[in-house]
Amino acid sequence: MERRKFVAAAAVAAGAGTARAQGPVREKPLRGDNWGPLHYDAAEKAQVDEVVDTGVPFRFTGRRGVAPVKVSTFEKEFAGKIGTKYALAVSSGTAALECAMAALQVGPGDEVIMPAWTWHSDCTAVVRAGALPVFAEIDESLNLDAADIEARITPQTKAIIAVHLQGNPANLDPILAVARKHRLRVIEDCSQAVGASYKGRRLGSMGDIGTYSHQESKTITSGEGGTLVTSDPELFERAVRFHDVGNIFAPHKEMLGETRLSPFVGTNFRMSEFTGGVMLAQLRKLDMIITAARANAARVYEKLGEIPGLRFRLRPDPAGDLGSPVFIRFDSKSQRDRFMELMKAENVPANGPGGSVILPVQPYIENKITLHPAWPTWTSARGKAIRYGAASCPRTIDILSRFAGVPVGPKYTRQDTEDIVAAVKKAYPAALRA
Ligand SMILES: Cc1ncc(COP(=O)(O)O)c(C=O)c1O
Repeated sequence: MERRKFVAAAAVAAGAGTARAQGPVREKPLRGDNWGPLHYDAAEKAQVDEVVDTGVPFRFTGRRGVAPVKVSTFEKEFAGKIGTKYALAVSSGTAALECAMAALQVGPGDEVIMPAWTWHSDCTAVVRAGALPVFAEIDESLNLDAADIEARITPQTKAIIAVHLQGNPANLDPILAVARKHRLRVIEDCSQAVGASYKGRRLGSMGDIGTYSHQESKTITSGEGGTLVTSDPELFERAVRFHDVGNIFAPHKEMLGETRLSPFVGTNFRMSEFTGGVMLAQLRKLDMIITAARANAARVYEKLGEIPGLRFRLRPDPAGDLGSPVFIRFDSKSQRDRFMELMKAENVPANGPGGSVILPVQPYIENKITLHPAWPTWTSARGKAIRYGAASCPRTIDILSRFAGVPVGPKYTRQDTEDIVAAVKKAYPAALRA
């Protein structure tokens, strides 16, 4: 009897051991990691409380001797962080892009080149300005392929939007060289890479204008919000006036020293003092957040780099990359899809490239749908002639089907990053055998 019990217990223990050895790397799925909100603490709370206590929620009007300072201070510190002369805080990253179009006087008859894979707002800002979006292919950095820009330039081309997607800087040197050669303006859309850099300079400081989103999924966040930076006083003044129905008030006048423009038709994209306060607290944590994220990503990159044959997305400046997600390259979509399934079984997420869309295949773009049939974007000769759809960006579609991204967050523990490495070491070779 005693012996039977012992044998049964031994069998259970052996079974459990085998199950652990063969089971998933993690018992429960590794959580995705939002960056900014995970770092909310007393600093953000104090900023919001101060706005409530002073009763000064509007950025241009004080009360009972208390002047509004949150948004203006955020702007000054943001410009200092990025390394530009000016920063304008607005209500969203989309608003920042629309201000950029206004600043550059992009309008009907103009064309703007952007990557075929990016967020809707790059395209909508151009279309809402009445101009024509033109899409270039991405390369295996998953950003705009500088070599594909020149073929897309026409006499109507006015600007290029270089989007720095998923933390990774676009290869700016060749993009800026093409722009210079053809006298085109460059907007850097840094929404998905706030704080990242390229060859030692912060993204957003190398083109004519940089734009940023502070929506919830971004590096630093106030739920909604955006910023535009530039070092050109005229572009800045036009952006400021556009964001506030043609007006310009004291803090921006002081930044500029003198104004040069008259009022024109604009809109309202102002940021509130509540948002400004939260962004100020978040901005002061930016370097801490991205340093933590980069350290975690560096461990993952280093260990995965040891896997024979494994290749990552191209990174034109690995030191400037924010490191998340870590994108892994496959030769075929079926291998990539198998890898994602195998990673799911390990409870470590790996996803196809997300957070953006392939713009030329979006039905509203492919079918050129706007609010009004006379919208100048697609009533011009070029607008009528241009063809979007899958045939216009085959390389982008192919590349995106062959990459899987493993998120790495700033708050991941050493165990989390070790689990990522262990899961990829199991799943990657198995996926190649599929
Ligand atoms: C590349 C890019 N540009 C612009 C935006 C627009 O930002 P927002 O959502 O703040 O308007 C986003 C938002 O995700 C983005 O990813």
